[in-house]
Amino acid sequence: MSRAAPEPKHAWRTGTAPGIFPLLGHGIAFYRKPLEFLNSLPAYGDLVELRLGPRRAWMVCHPELVHQVLMDARTFDKGGPLYDRLRTLLGDGVGTCRHEAHRRQRRLLQPGFRKARVAAQTELMGEEVESACREWRAGQEVDVSATMLTLSARVIGRALFSDSLDAATAAEMHRCLVAVVRGLFLRTVVPVDALFRVPTPANRRFRHASIRLRAIVDAAIAERRPGEPGTDRDDLLGVLLAAARGNDAAEAITEREVRSQVFTLIFAGAESTSLCLASAFDLLARHPEDERRLHSEVDVVLAQGRPPGRDDLPRLVHTQRVLTETLRHRPPGWLFTRVTTKETVLAGYRIPQGTTVLYSPYLLHHDPASFPDPDRFHPDRWLPGQAPAVPPGAMIPFAAGIRKCIGETFALAEATVAIAFIARHWRLRHPPGHVARLRPAASLGPRDLVMVCEPRSESPSGTPPWGALVSTALTTTGSHEPRAAGGDHVHDA
Ligand code: HEM
Repeated sequence: MSRAAPEPKHAWRTGTAPGIFPLLGHGIAFYRKPLEFLNSLPAYGDLVELRLGPRRAWMVCHPELVHQVLMDARTFDKGGPLYDRLRTLLGDGVGTCRHEAHRRQRRLLQPGFRKARVAAQTELMGEEVESACREWRAGQEVDVSATMLTLSARVIGRALFSDSLDAATAAEMHRCLVAVVRGLFLRTVVPVDALFRVPTPANRRFRHASIRLRAIVDAAIAERRPGEPGTDRDDLLGVLLAAARGNDAAEAITEREVRSQVFTLIFAGAESTSLCLASAFDLLARHPEDERRLHSEVDVVLAQGRPPGRDDLPRLVHTQRVLTETLRHRPPGWLFTRVTTKETVLAGYRIPQGTTVLYSPYLLHHDPASFPDPDRFHPDRWLPGQAPAVPPGAMIPFAAGIRKCIGETFALAEATVAIAFIARHWRLRHPPGHVARLRPAASLGPRDLVMVCEPRSESPSGTPPWGALVSTALTTTGSHEPRAAGGDHVHDA
């Protein structure tokens, strides 16, 4: 049978990426310089054939085609190496389940993510941000990546369980999440199971971290078994446990599903938001003019020095442009897989059932046809009037269609509160000798970013609101913008 579909409406280009290794396929190129490899692909076509290990797969490189994939979730279903792995780890929750199970699950969780509910959580987000940097002292080196992950884990912990996770649990969750997302990436680009059964230290670390993460979630749920007093709290777990009690048999869910949903929300909610925040502070330190304008804005909007409330968020317009540009420049969700559930036509090419299809927000966000000078961090590209007419499918940090991120509003509120409050009181600097390293794994962003905190002298109160601070003269590094596609080696998988 001819592989060409009849009468393509558009002159799409298809091609094959060079450099296929036996057994590993393009795994080595993907593993060693993933961002560079991704950015090289559009040169070979709008739809480019790859090998993930021995498996054939297609990378969709044109926004219009990505839009087609995301809008047809029945044909391009969650599957392929990333979701096959995630399913073993997270179970069949809303993020990993197949199309036919998705509608019911999404309907169950959606009320927890409505705008009004998220707005009501702005205060708790502010409390957690305030507490995350309470111990910072002038001149201190802080592990920004770890702080942001602890912050986002505690915020999602409160949304789920009402109580925040205690510091020791949040720290353990941090270690486990880091090990799991690193391991997941390698298992996605080289999906050869036999390699991961060998008891190497990295494989053991991955397994141990997965088991511990599951245990943390189980312990949190065990405290509030369905049907027991206290289960009906007004939080996401309360919603899930009420559904598990199941007055409506058709909608009733099992305890196992409760666990998958909780696990999914912690995994999806904590990791991406924290990487987005770490990237924002990293990029701001490299772009003093954008940082200065951010400071001017937060000094006015947050003149009292307190965290932003829900009414402040619409006034933080430059903060939101910084956030949008961070999500464009370095989307935490940078690579996803799908699997075709039937033969279909994409870019005029017939794709058989069961084919792995990939899409990458990173690749699309760095397409010069959609974003002039794409490697430049430039929040003003989002100014009203200046924002380009971004074609559908070109700017998709939260994806699109029915599998679009359920936590988008939640994540944007949390990130706006955190950036604004921290920028109101602190300037974060790279320490002298800092070398930029982006380490893409299952998600993208700095995982070991250490910065020096300098209290904002411009702040009307002179110092951050907590205690006297020792002021230390700091040398700021003449940091430079790394090539967006360079320095992106993946370590420790
Ligand atoms: C900056 C932060 C975040 C980013 C960039 C992000 C990005 C994404 C993306 C790109 C997807 C689609 C994945 C795909 O197409 O395969 C997704 C799905 C999802 N995200 Fe997020 N996310 C963020 C924060 C959150 C938060 C805070 C939560 C929950 C509290 C969350 C929960 C989910 C869930 C449950 C899904 C699956 C939705 C479905 O399939 O119906 N995310 N996210």
